[in-house]
Amino acid sequence: MTETSAVSAGRCVLVTGATGGIGQRLVRALQQQGYQVRLAVRSLPKAAALFPEAELVRWEAGMPVPETMLQGVWGIVNLAGAPIARRWTAAYRQEIFRSRVETTRALAGALSSGGHEVQVFLSVSATGYYGDRGEELCTESTPAGRDFLAQVCAAWEAAAQEAASRVRVVIPRLGIVLDRRAGFLPRLMPAFRFFVGGTLGSGQQWVPWVHWSDVVGFVLWALRTPAVQGVYNVVAPQPVRFRELCQLLGRLLRRPCWLSVPGWVLRLRYGALVQALLSSQRVIPHRAHAEGFRFQFPELEAALRAELSGETKA
Ligand SMILES: NC(=O)c1ccc[n+]([C@@H]2O[C@H](COP(=O)([O-])OP(=O)(O)OC[C@H]3O[C@@H](n4cnc5c(N)ncnc54)[C@H](OP(=O)(O)O)[C@@H]3O)[C@@H](O)[C@H]2O)c1
Repeated sequence: MTETSAVSAGRCVLVTGATGGIGQRLVRALQQQGYQVRLAVRSLPKAAALFPEAELVRWEAGMPVPETMLQGVWGIVNLAGAPIARRWTAAYRQEIFRSRVETTRALAGALSSGGHEVQVFLSVSATGYYGDRGEELCTESTPAGRDFLAQVCAAWEAAAQEAASRVRVVIPRLGIVLDRRAGFLPRLMPAFRFFVGGTLGSGQQWVPWVHWSDVVGFVLWALRTPAVQGVYNVVAPQPVRFRELCQLLGRLLRRPCWLSVPGWVLRLRYGALVQALLSSQRVIPHRAHAEGFRFQFPELEAALRAELSGETKA
């Protein structure tokens, strides 16, 4: 389904985290669909260089939400969050938490106090919500895990839900986003290109992946569909094991997939992040499927081929 500019024309969407991997793809798609876009950013020059035509507001967690930031806004897409794929020191764990939960709480607080025209608040979360689940099949009703990322996601979602009495709240739990330009793929591919590609840990862990165009597609669908509300797993319907993903990547890049990096080596390099890298999450998009969202890339091979050939554009 595609959004039509007739539906979106004149509607203003405020985006946080717009300069990130997902944000850049999404802002362009919103503009193409005829939405007016306002970006709440930490660095005006960085955002202006990326989006010369967008309206920019300097804002981040810890600052009060300026009244003008929400003026005329119809929808909010909240993507802000410090990157996960860094070494987790105690201070950085706090930054991971604060950058998500405080930002979301501040926005939800401003929405709860009224005096605005916002109809929909879409605030992302992650499949990290489920923690390490082994072979268990996770749907939206599976309870949260107990590890650090699961706690961050649970607090992040609870903060967004604080706005639910005033606006429609949508919480997409995103899987690992496949995008040749940002995130997981550009980190994994160099090892394969230099013939040292392989899995992390045993490779038996399930990976809840999703192609970036399905993330953008889901956000557009959720914005324009009034019945869409609450939590949705935004992951491809066919999760794979990490080993399968790496073997497929090796085949498509015509490189071997022969290494297996043990957990203790990962721990030396990434500290407590290793817990997230080795977690197994077999997640399915139960609600999105049931409510009619169609994935453009339900299968991994087609998604990877499209990214490696650069045929998907936004
Ligand atoms: N990519 C994935 O695989 C994936 C999977 C699951 C969930 N998610 C979630 O989806 C959101 C967007 O993901 P992404 O891959 O686009 O992330 P990203 O590329 O790391 O970008 C996140 C954006 O958040 C803002 N940000 C960064 N550090 C911040 C901090 N310390 N305090 C406040 N804001 C900060 C920045 O925007 P400005 O500079 O414009 O302020 C940045 O561009 C994140 O919250 C992420 O956790 C992503």
